[in-house]
Amino acid sequence: MFFHYVVVVLSLLNFQRGFHVSSCADNCEDKPVFIPPKLVVRHGEPTSALCVGCKMLCQNKTFGLEKSLGTITPNGTTIKWEVDKMMEWNPSPTCYSTFIEENQCCSKLAVIVYQPPHKVSISFINHSGPMFEGHLYTLRCTVQDVAPVKNLIVTFYRGSKLVGSPQSTNNTEKTPLTESFTLNINTTKEDDGVLYICEATLDLKADGLTPKDLMWSKSLISTVYYGPKREQPPHPNLITVTAGDPLSLNCSAIGNPAPSYTWTLPSSRPPPPSNSSVLTINSVDFGDEGQYICVVSNMQGNITEKFHVDVQVNYVPIIIGVAVGAAVFIIFILSMFYIQHYRHNRMGQYNLKDVFHLRKRHVSVPTATD
Ligand SMILES: *[C@@H]1O[C@H](CO)[C@@H](O)[C@H](O)[C@H]1NC(C)=O
Ligand SMILES: *[C@@H]1O[C@H](CO)[C@@H](O)[C@H](O)[C@H]1NC(C)=O
Repeated sequence: MFFHYVVVVLSLLNFQRGFHVSSCADNCEDKPVFIPPKLVVRHGEPTSALCVGCKMLCQNKTFGLEKSLGTITPNGTTIKWEVDKMMEWNPSPTCYSTFIEENQCCSKLAVIVYQPPHKVSISFINHSGPMFEGHLYTLRCTVQDVAPVKNLIVTFYRGSKLVGSPQSTNNTEKTPLTESFTLNINTTKEDDGVLYICEATLDLKADGLTPKDLMWSKSLISTVYYGPKREQPPHPNLITVTAGDPLSLNCSAIGNPAPSYTWTLPSSRPPPPSNSSVLTINSVDFGDEGQYICVVSNMQGNITEKFHVDVQVNYVPIIIGVAVGAAVFIIFILSMFYIQHYRHNRMGQYNLKDVFHLRKRHVSVPTATD
């Protein structure tokens, strides 16, 4: 009984001294309201809100606004709260109304104080310089001094493609914090030259700020060293080339660093230079027949490519020669046959004689008199 009494007295004292937060009842009728109900303000910037103490039941009520910074300007049943420079991280101004001999009624204003990150950085953990193919690396994105960290969302992109799901933390600390987010990468040769991007967004969409204003990103280009790999489909087992024709063998491969080529030829021709992936012979002869070996190498490894070249006789001139010879021979034989066959034939005789006549006549024309 005595204890209960003391508690009541202490509560009354609290009213008068203005420590209202702990005994704030927010389920009462016609409680004060803030306009706007929520504030999003960048640290160091000005802000303001208005508390409307009551709407209908205003008689015999007194109003107050509890604050940790800023100024208040009462005006009838409303109180204006203004801050020149928001220098706190978790202000929660409370507006209250007190009805004579009754408990107080109050509302707190939700204020989100944000700070853009001081810096966003992206790097590989414990690694710098080129990476090696087929190894696991961890990409780390560090967002420095951002508030509130709960609203921070970090997304990794590989080129324009999202990799992994957006990450966040459930740390509810309101003051600026530095947070790191990671992404594991199992490198392939396709990662060479790829742009990795870390995008940090302070997501205050739900609180009325467009996300566009609150997005920062950093990127890095990954370099992956990998051994030579053939760039083209395999060539046939046997490459057949006709003597006198050009020969071109393409051993081109990709690799990082750029691979070098070592050619071994069956002939005594000089091999192509080591930076040349293509061997070219303008006109092959029989000495060029055999096995060509191309070793492609860089510091990450090497591959060997073999070409078997078969040089064939060029039959075309021979065939043409034989064909022409045969044709000439056939024509000759036919002519002979014709002459032999028609020599004793009247028609043929007549015709032939006619021809001779014609000749004769031509010759004898100037001396003919009949
Ligand atoms: C990075 O290397 C340092 C020193 O070698 C080591 O203490 C640390 O644990 C490493 N960090 C990670 C994430 O592997
Ligand atoms: C050799 O092959 C590569 C890859 O297929 C190709 O890019 C290159 O043009 C070729 N070179 C020649 C001279 O054909």
